[in-house]
Amino acid sequence: KRLVVLISGGGSNLQTLLDACQRGDINGQVVAVISNRPDVRGLIRAEQAGADALCIDHTEYDSREAFDEQLRQHIDDYQPDYVILAGFMRILTASFVNHFLGKMVNIHPSLLPKYPGLDTHQRAIDANDSHAGATVHFVTPELDGGPLIMQSSVTLEPSDTAASLAKRVLATEHQLYPRVVQLLCQDKLKLIDNIAYYDQTPI
Ligand code: GRF
Repeated sequence: KRLVVLISGGGSNLQTLLDACQRGDINGQVVAVISNRPDVRGLIRAEQAGADALCIDHTEYDSREAFDEQLRQHIDDYQPDYVILAGFMRILTASFVNHFLGKMVNIHPSLLPKYPGLDTHQRAIDANDSHAGATVHFVTPELDGGPLIMQSSVTLEPSDTAASLAKRVLATEHQLYPRVVQLLCQDKLKLIDNIAYYDQTPI
């Protein structure tokens, strides 16, 4: 399977996907990595792994629609089976999302449906939650609101800060995302009428 990964930053999740493809733990290949920000470490990781590395700088576009249209064209050029959002920090228009519906997944650092959006770790601490974690979901036009596929969780410690929690959750993301991407590549996950299925069973 052909994968295009979208990033905005460091790309540690991207790295785990590149490594898993390399090892054969994912039956797929990252053909391109696209960042909306220039000079990020994730683009260097992509180049080092032999994937195309592109920057489409959103600040050079007048509107969200114009940026998304350019992004869509570049992604379509690669004819990917799946589009993987890995720390891609831009809200996407509904028409972009619908173009890739069922073929695009995201990883979000909270136990969705809790805490869509930003500052997830601090919000979990402020709410005195017993657990925090990460969620992989299909992307639909509702921000961080698409059907859930799989989650990882960690226990919240009284001494946790947003930074310490983020670090622990990120380590679980590195286990979680390659597993889910492999299931996608094995055709085991589907999105039908806004319901996610694993092997034909609703998740
Ligand atoms: C991860 O916590 C991911 O869940 C969130 O952004 C972070 C990206 O980290 N959406 P990295 O760029 O993969 O290191």
